[in-house]
Amino acid sequence: MSDFKPLVFSGVQPTGNLHLGNYLGAIRKFVALQENNDCMYCVVDLHAITAQLVHEDMPGQIRSIAAAFIAAGIDPKKHIVFNQSAVPQHAELAWIFNCVARIGWMERMTQFKDKSGGKNAEQMSLGLLAYPSLMAADILVYRATHVPVGDDQKQHLELTRDIAQKFNIDFMEHIRRTDYGIDIKVGDEPVHAYFPMVEPLIGGPAPRVMSLREGTKKMSKSDASDLSRINLMDDADTISKKIRKAKTDPDALPSEVDGLKGRAEADNLVGIYAALSDKTKQEVLGEFGGQQFSVFKPALVDLAVTVLAPISGEMRRLMDDTTHIDGILRDGGERARARADVTMKQVREIVGFLQ
Ligand code: TRP
Repeated sequence: MSDFKPLVFSGVQPTGNLHLGNYLGAIRKFVALQENNDCMYCVVDLHAITAQLVHEDMPGQIRSIAAAFIAAGIDPKKHIVFNQSAVPQHAELAWIFNCVARIGWMERMTQFKDKSGGKNAEQMSLGLLAYPSLMAADILVYRATHVPVGDDQKQHLELTRDIAQKFNIDFMEHIRRTDYGIDIKVGDEPVHAYFPMVEPLIGGPAPRVMSLREGTKKMSKSDASDLSRINLMDDADTISKKIRKAKTDPDALPSEVDGLKGRAEADNLVGIYAALSDKTKQEVLGEFGGQQFSVFKPALVDLAVTVLAPISGEMRRLMDDTTHIDGILRDGGERARARADVTMKQVREIVGFLQ
């Protein structure tokens, strides 16, 4: 198999409300990628129990991520939208990857260190430590090639490549005895392998969206103040109120991007305007340079409401009709299982389990 087909895969955890940062940083990219690619978008419910086992309204959380995908414009007929636990092959491959990966690789992950606060590591679930191994399985159980994620997931994708590479090398002879191998390049070296080397799709025009209350902190679902973020389910009045209350400074907007240095709140609002209007910050300042926030904020409210209110409206509509969204997830799960089943049959043979 040499003409290996590109496949886009990404996942979002069903924990907490989705906000503007998730939309601009991830979901909007997912929507754009579906034009020219085969895409799979997964609600990673198995990951959601790694940090906290019991969740209030887990079904509602899962549905709301799927609803956000659909409301933002992902076509669940052409592509696959599903939840992770519907495809047991993810967990099965993760187990094999737990035996491929080394404990030290997991302990080095900065997200694990952050979440476990270093000292408390012993008190964390074993699942939290093995989180990246399950993430590698999510991607590789479809032998996906491209993964759109935020900056913070880059290290997990490098680990995914390390796991793929170690599997490919450890089982090299076994892979050669089957016809499932693919010819890939590692650096410039041609290699016969089973799993592809995934490419992260990071960056692009998406800004780092910061808190509306404190421009140096990332917009986050765990911030105690709801005024700090625009949730994807917020209605027009709420969006407007949050932007009007957003922290700013007393000066007018500069005409050049350089003038935003040291003005984190101004920089953030200009960045949000730019992202929502598909312009550069410089273009936005070309329009608003010299103006006060009393002029800029109402313009940002109009823009944000125009872009986001239809999405939040559609999300609320979808959340009112759980049979529809559940049907989409069930159908997506079935199609995903059929694909994952092909890979797992081959992996079991490569590893040497009796079929
Ligand atoms: N770890 C990712 C996050 O927190 C979510 C995730 C799980 C994921 N599995 C994935 C992302 C596979 C991309 C591909 O954002």
